[in-house]
Amino acid sequence: MSVWTVLLAAGSGTRLAEASGGVKKQFLRLGGKPLYWRSLSTFARCPDIAGVMVVFPPADLDAARKALAGLLAAHDPGVAVLTTAGGVRRQDSVQNGLAALPSDCRFVLVHDAARPFVDPALVGRVITALREGHEAVIPVLPVTDTIKEVREETVLATFDRSRLAAVQTPQGFDAALLRQAFAHAGEEFTVTDDASLVEHLGRPVHTVPGHPDNRKITNPEDLALLEDATPSPVPVVGYGYDVHRYANPAHPGKQPARPMKLGGYPILGAPEVLAHSDGDVLLHALTDAILGCVAGGDIGQLFPDSNPDFDNMASGVFVSEALLLAREAGLTITHVDLTIIAQVPRIGPHAQAIRLNVAALLSLDKSRVNLKATTEEGLGFTGEKKGIKAIALVTGWKRS
Ligand code: CTP
Ligand code: MG
Repeated sequence: MSVWTVLLAAGSGTRLAEASGGVKKQFLRLGGKPLYWRSLSTFARCPDIAGVMVVFPPADLDAARKALAGLLAAHDPGVAVLTTAGGVRRQDSVQNGLAALPSDCRFVLVHDAARPFVDPALVGRVITALREGHEAVIPVLPVTDTIKEVREETVLATFDRSRLAAVQTPQGFDAALLRQAFAHAGEEFTVTDDASLVEHLGRPVHTVPGHPDNRKITNPEDLALLEDATPSPVPVVGYGYDVHRYANPAHPGKQPARPMKLGGYPILGAPEVLAHSDGDVLLHALTDAILGCVAGGDIGQLFPDSNPDFDNMASGVFVSEALLLAREAGLTITHVDLTIIAQVPRIGPHAQAIRLNVAALLSLDKSRVNLKATTEEGLGFTGEKKGIKAIALVTGWKRS
């Protein structure tokens, strides 16, 4: 009973082209990502959706696929995402999407990427009606304006508004029925929505309530909707914690001993630390704190210590990689607060150098980086001079 969405992003956006500087509307930026991504992630959040088939303009297919792969790597939507090329008319794009769906797809929802504000509740209403046995389901809204038929500036007829409905997407179908409706309609029959094909076949189309916010970005004045919808950044805090054991000739560890570095700064005369990488406990905690701000997992997932490439790796590289990932996820770091916990060595004489190094690594002014050091009063493993700990807190803003 799998449900797939065919997400239509293959139009040319002619009515908006001038106002958007030639950018096709499905690729306009919304919250730092292409517009179509918004509805893709909404469908991905709906529990019944098995996958999304994104239909791109043939001329943009390669570039759009590449950009989408980057987005998927940074934000796993948790459902299958496939792509295919669209056609000249909207219905040609639907047909291409339909043809590329996996064969076990039972229901298909066809959605305009130009409607980024669709909400999961609306999607749920369409799917529920399909599961209840309706073969074709469309979301509708009552018409508030009076609708007239006009030709050459003259009114020909006035419709009874109470009998009319404005139609939105996603429109849901039994996939076999939609295929049959396309075959029946043939090439000549041009439609502006998919349900028309089913009506043409003489089969019933069921309606569910649409939502007034589910507007289609169509004309230049609709661009204001996107500006209003750009989410404000949210404050975030990331926490990182790391420990390294000191080398002890009496109990050699599994990992090699490394000369101590803190924040990339060598601490001469300090105990050696056991580590696969260069063992910079402070930068490891910092990397985790950066990842924490963007739900990016942890340093071990990104740089497993089973990977020989990271042997004696300068930990500044981990920080830089985490920063890249975090920036891609919309993070701006505003402040970092670091604590080193060790009985030995004494950190005080090195504190300024460590702090400046970290500030430079993060491209932050030194007033935004704090470094503290403490002992644990002879208690625990730091007190026994067996190892060192570091804690990092990173604060910032994240565009969601
Ligand atoms: N669409 C499509 N393939 C086409 C035409 C349209 O996938 N050949 C998609 C659009 O990308 C959009 C949706 O269908 O998400 C609704 O179409 P519309 O609002 O008309 O978009 P465009 O055709 O791109 O815009 P315009 O009509 O102004 O050129
Ligand atoms: Mg169009």
